[in-house]
Amino acid sequence: MKKVLVIGGGGREHAIVDAISRSPQVGKIYCAPGNAGIALQAECVAIKDTDVEGLKNFALANEIDLAVVGPEVALAAGVVDAFKEAGLRIFGPSKAAATIEASKDFAKQLMAKYNIPTAAFETFEDYDAALEYVKKGSFPVVLKYDGLAAGKGVVIPETLEEAEETLKDMLLDDKFGKGKVVVEEFLTGPEFSFMCFVDGLDVYPMTLSQDHKRAYEGDKGPNTGGMGAYSPVPIITDEDLEFSLEHVMKPTAAAMVAEGCSFTGVLYGGLMKTPQGPKVIEFNCRFGDPETEVVLPRLETDIYDVFSAVADHTPMPELKWNEKVTMGFVMASKGYPGDYEKGYEIEFPEDLPVRIYHMGTSYKDGKFYTSGGRVLMVVGNGNDLQEAHDKALKAVESIKCDNLFYRRDIGWRVL
Ligand code: AMP
Ligand code: GLY
Repeated sequence: MKKVLVIGGGGREHAIVDAISRSPQVGKIYCAPGNAGIALQAECVAIKDTDVEGLKNFALANEIDLAVVGPEVALAAGVVDAFKEAGLRIFGPSKAAATIEASKDFAKQLMAKYNIPTAAFETFEDYDAALEYVKKGSFPVVLKYDGLAAGKGVVIPETLEEAEETLKDMLLDDKFGKGKVVVEEFLTGPEFSFMCFVDGLDVYPMTLSQDHKRAYEGDKGPNTGGMGAYSPVPIITDEDLEFSLEHVMKPTAAAMVAEGCSFTGVLYGGLMKTPQGPKVIEFNCRFGDPETEVVLPRLETDIYDVFSAVADHTPMPELKWNEKVTMGFVMASKGYPGDYEKGYEIEFPEDLPVRIYHMGTSYKDGKFYTSGGRVLMVVGNGNDLQEAHDKALKAVESIKCDNLFYRRDIGWRVL
């Protein structure tokens, strides 16, 4: 029986652990650092996801057969490179390939060079030059901090005053860290998440999902890491999908090979169906969160074989998706994505007919507590999205906690 180490400790990693636990080949799952919900399905080990040496030493000492990386921070820290140098099998992109997410400017330059459809843009290090450029353009305008910012580095000002303030935060006060700013044309249309398993030039699409990035109902409020998701996405046609695969995902994988940083792992295309067709909003170098929590429950193929095919550069088994559709609601701490308090007790009714993935929880003396911004992702399934929605929402309403909020309108575009 195989031993697997999952790196990370959020809802995405809980869904990965859950999927691996369905593999008949896997006998033992470790998760570093994991969380209180993951601990129900795996042995959690207290190693931080960016402690590359610690993770590598653990994998060597425990004779891990395969490691799977969840978070971008671990990939950007070079965990895959370190494991490979030590002769360990690992699923995820190298540090160089992870730049496609770690630097928005790198991703935009790549798309420009290889004619991959995306919003027009310009990159700035200098505040005055950026402001000058914004003044000449129209509003709303999209301002993106160049580095990793947990989904919070994008601001879409409606006015010049707001834009000035944001540019000041990003370029003068270094609120997100020291880095450049990408100023981008504002696009419109529904967004969808297209995750593909990628091994160099080979691209294997997963079923589509849609996230809800804004904090509040009606797509209002600040951008978050994601407040809910569903899969599949009926408003995206087969033609849109075909276009996105042939003109976005495959050429991007090929571009990475041509640039000398071949991608292996999950390439996540955050796409928008604009009136001119699908265009790239962002690339991520890993599974989406909360998209993974609605996509992996639908995968019927043994995920250990899928991860192995990419890690070993061997043929991919056919990816089979079950007919049950999924929808999930994120329950987040009041105040998220801004400041929030932790340590509120969560009470779960027994035997809820949903999957509950823990994003940020802790456990003490038989009780669960909130310990993060996003706390739970509650996923229902059904024969249609309405059924999945109703099941998940009913479960969400029955979970008791004094400090959580959620959006009730997940799936509004399709229900
Ligand atoms: P990102 O982190 O780049 O995915 O941006 C976060 C969110 O901001 C996206 O999911 C979109 O909703 C929005 N956004 C980003 N870029 C654009 C754009 N060029 N036009 C319109 N909305 C955008
Ligand atoms: N849900 C969007 C992301 O994972 O970045």
